[in-house]
Amino acid sequence: MADEQTRRRVDSLRVEIEQHRRHYYVESAPQVSDAEFDALVRELRELEAQHPELDRPDSPTHTVGAPPAGGFASVAHRVAMLSLDNAFDEADLRRWAERNERLLGGTALRLTCELKVDGVAIAVSYVDGRLERAVTRGDGRSGEDVTANVRTIADVPDVLAVDAPPPLVEARGEIYYPVAAFEAMNDAREAAGEARFANPRNAASGALRQKDPRKTAERPLRLVCHGMGAVDGLAVAGHAEFLRWIGTAGLPVAEQTRTFDDLGAVLDYIAHWGEHRHDAEYEIDGVVVKVDELAVQRRLGNTSHGPRWAIAFKYPPEEQRTVLRDIFVNVGRTGKVTPFASFEPVRVAGSTLQLATLHNEDQARHKDVRPGDTIIVRKAGDVIPEVVGPVLSLRPPEVEAAGPWQFPRTCPFCGSPIERLEGESASFCTNVDCPNRLLESLAHFAGRGGMDIEGLGYETARTLRDEGVRAPPRRRLPADRRAAAAVGGVRREEGRGAARRHRSLQTAAVGAPAHRAEHPHGRRHRSRGPSPATSARWRRCVPPPSTRSPPSKGWDRSVPPRCAFLDNPRTQALLDDLAGLGLRMDTDAVKVDDALAGMTIVVTGNLAGFTRDEAKQAITDRGGRATSSVSKQTSLVVLGSDPGAQKVTKAAELGVPTTDEEGFVALLQTGAVPA
Ligand code: IVH
Repeated sequence: MADEQTRRRVDSLRVEIEQHRRHYYVESAPQVSDAEFDALVRELRELEAQHPELDRPDSPTHTVGAPPAGGFASVAHRVAMLSLDNAFDEADLRRWAERNERLLGGTALRLTCELKVDGVAIAVSYVDGRLERAVTRGDGRSGEDVTANVRTIADVPDVLAVDAPPPLVEARGEIYYPVAAFEAMNDAREAAGEARFANPRNAASGALRQKDPRKTAERPLRLVCHGMGAVDGLAVAGHAEFLRWIGTAGLPVAEQTRTFDDLGAVLDYIAHWGEHRHDAEYEIDGVVVKVDELAVQRRLGNTSHGPRWAIAFKYPPEEQRTVLRDIFVNVGRTGKVTPFASFEPVRVAGSTLQLATLHNEDQARHKDVRPGDTIIVRKAGDVIPEVVGPVLSLRPPEVEAAGPWQFPRTCPFCGSPIERLEGESASFCTNVDCPNRLLESLAHFAGRGGMDIEGLGYETARTLRDEGVRAPPRRRLPADRRAAAAVGGVRREEGRGAARRHRSLQTAAVGAPAHRAEHPHGRRHRSRGPSPATSARWRRCVPPPSTRSPPSKGWDRSVPPRCAFLDNPRTQALLDDLAGLGLRMDTDAVKVDDALAGMTIVVTGNLAGFTRDEAKQAITDRGGRATSSVSKQTSLVVLGSDPGAQKVTKAAELGVPTTDEEGFVALLQTGAVPA
């Protein structure tokens, strides 16, 4: 039997651990190191093992790695979990407000606005301050008991941080998968040849419904609370007041919530978040507007759908249905064969889409979209368009009978066999001279990731390819041409004839940093920008500026090659050719062009000189990573006008440096982080 001292130690450890969890997860202000925290948990775990009579299911030691839960029991909600009526424009919202004011005999409304989180609805109840259970919405009257899994979510406290907890407090909220973590997870899945999750909500739902809570614990699920369920013994008069109370008690609440006395301010809030919907840590699909006073809520009551006192203002969806016309494959400059969907043009989140990549053979097979299918396509913010999947209930019988789309075994451009190496998800056309590969190679050589030749797009590249031009060009330039190139006039050279175009391609290469010429070779497993190893190798073969002649076979053989590619005689011949054409072999430009290697940069708000895509491109072009949420890994936050409040706060909390657009431009030009 445990003595009194051990009992007291166990109790105090539990309180202490809960407090640290709260500091860490709720306030983002940990007061002990991870190691110190782990030591407290370890001590508690050992005491519970030595004295099983002191163990309790709600002990913090059971919040991760609890034993398998088996199936989920159905639990009746104490108070039904209702849905919400929707408003799609200002007129809908005004009608809703006017109707309520009329019902209340002309009383002006006090309205609390919140983001509408696209997560999995959950009710978490606390009896005498201890987590009793967590139940999904289900049909609104009863849901699934997912308590064991929810206990593994770090920001769900086991015990409310209040001195005299009321007998019952039930908070309603959403479990979500943070967008940044979701994207990273999906990228990792794709790299491992696994299917991508359609969206963070599906990923959250999947993680929450794991039979084994240890699996749930592996996912970075989070909770945000937005409402009140059944309560007993808690005296609050308004919705916002309830949120403040549960926030103090340790439950996570949204920092973006605001209360207003006039509808104009509500509309401004809606407009603001419409512009910044991708600034939140979770996906949002609208704003929920709620009459704040609980007494007024009761007077207004419910309709058959949901409460009269709340309405969801829905933003235009970022997913739409359309019809898949066909699936094609493209052969890239590396020879990689990529399937893509061509569908009836559809407006999604402000842009018209008609093409979307299906990534590779496995992804195409997994999605099983077939020409003639109704499909769901999606574009979330600046994320590339994506085919979510088919609407199976709308699949025509003949499409069903036709069976799955088959990945081609021969190249549609040259008829050569398509090869897929063991263990790789990508397939390749086996013909190095595949005409489409040459086209892509030329277009890329001339494009932004390569020599950046203005006006040389696919159309010209196609003509050049048909005229027998390869990228990079092989013929030597006359000296005067090189001089012309040096003053930068040739990139603007426009001409109709093949010779002129060819010259333009050649001369454009002159003066460009040498590493840029790597791209046209289309090496596999390489992204933009040189690796440090490659840059070093380039540097070794650079002739001094005064004797800038081709390095003949001027490779410094003492530097070991980074890969067989660089040692390949064809590569070396190509580099010699490029040097012979006058390609600059110094690496000054590299200083800027890989200047952001290792940096993770977040841009928030509007920049005058860049669209969001251009800013991201500028970062990735220089070897940096552009992400959309601020974390401990973020190196710099660029603040445009009207930046995301959450990002500004997070940057300040984590001590991440910030800069304005001027600083960003300087960073891009010089590679120096602004002071
Ligand atoms: S209040 C009785 N507030 O949206 C009113 N719901 O489409 C209950 N949701 O079932 C809902 N964010 O799961 C409310 N800030 C928010 C919300 C929110 C997301 C979900 C909720 C609800 C669904 C209705």
